[in-house]
Formats: sequence, C-alpha cells, structure tokens
Amino acid sequence: MHFVTTPIFLRRFILGLIVPIGLHAASAAAAEGDATRGAQLYRACVACHALEPDLHLSGPSLGNIWRRTAGKAPGYVRYSPGLKEAELEWNDAALNG
Ligand code: HEC
Repeated sequence: MHFVTTPIFLRRFILGLIVPIGLHAASAAAAEGDATRGAQLYRACVACHALEPDLHLSGPSLGNIWRRTAGKAPGYVRYSPGLKEAELEWNDAALNG
C-alpha cells in the first residue's frame, strides 16, 4: 500500500535515463515552455556552456542566445568556420528545423 507512489518515481527515473538527447529535445521542451524539463536537459550542456553572458567555457556562453545570430557570441574566439559563416538566427524556426 505504501508503494502507491512507486510508478511516479519509476517514470521520473526512466525520464532521467532518456533525457540526455540533445538540442532537438531541448528545443521541444522550450516550445512547450516546460522550464523544469529544460533545466534537466541543460545538465547535458553545462559542462561546456554557461548561461551567464560573456562567460565562455569550451563552448560559447548561451546567455542571450535567443534571436542572436549563430557563431557571434562576443568574445568567443573558437567558433568553427561552419558556424561562423552559418548566418543562422537562433529562434523557434531554426531550432525546430
Ligand atoms: C563537449 C562540449 C559541449 C557540450 C556538452 C555541448 N556543447 Fe554546445 N557547443 C560546444 C562548442 C565547442 C560550440 C562551438 C561550435 C562551433 O564553433 O562549431 C558549441 C556551440 C553551441 C551553440 C551555438 C552557439 C552560438 O553562439 O552560435 C549552441 C546553441 C549550443 N552549442 C547548444 C548546446 C546545447 C543546448 C547543449 C546541450 C544539449 C550543448 N550545446 C552541449 C560545445 C559543447
């Protein structure tokens, strides 16, 4: 009887296993506006990306990324030529591609 909550726990656990899916899943969560899920997904990115503007790790800061042109974070100098020349704006359309 006191195991009534087990299914929910299990569902969360399974979700935790499935979560590290990447940008596509992250954008799906953003489209649905689910901040909790977004925060969980972001754990897969935190090793390389800070959310604080201008704080670059091995990847560029993702602070203020929305509606910004790809490959143009001020002060990040390690962009690949492909991203530097992509002329792509990070917005709903680009991420739902
Ligand atoms: C192992 C390190 C690493 C991880 C983990 C990682 N990234 Fe990145 N990310 C990079 C690097 C390096 C670049 C720059 C790539 C380039 O110049 O081609 C980048 C670029 C980006 C850009 C483009 C930024 C810009 O200024 O145009 C976005 C958006 C991005 N990553 C999102 C994510 C998301 C979301 C996750 C997690 C789901 C993630 N990254 C996980 C290293 C990482």
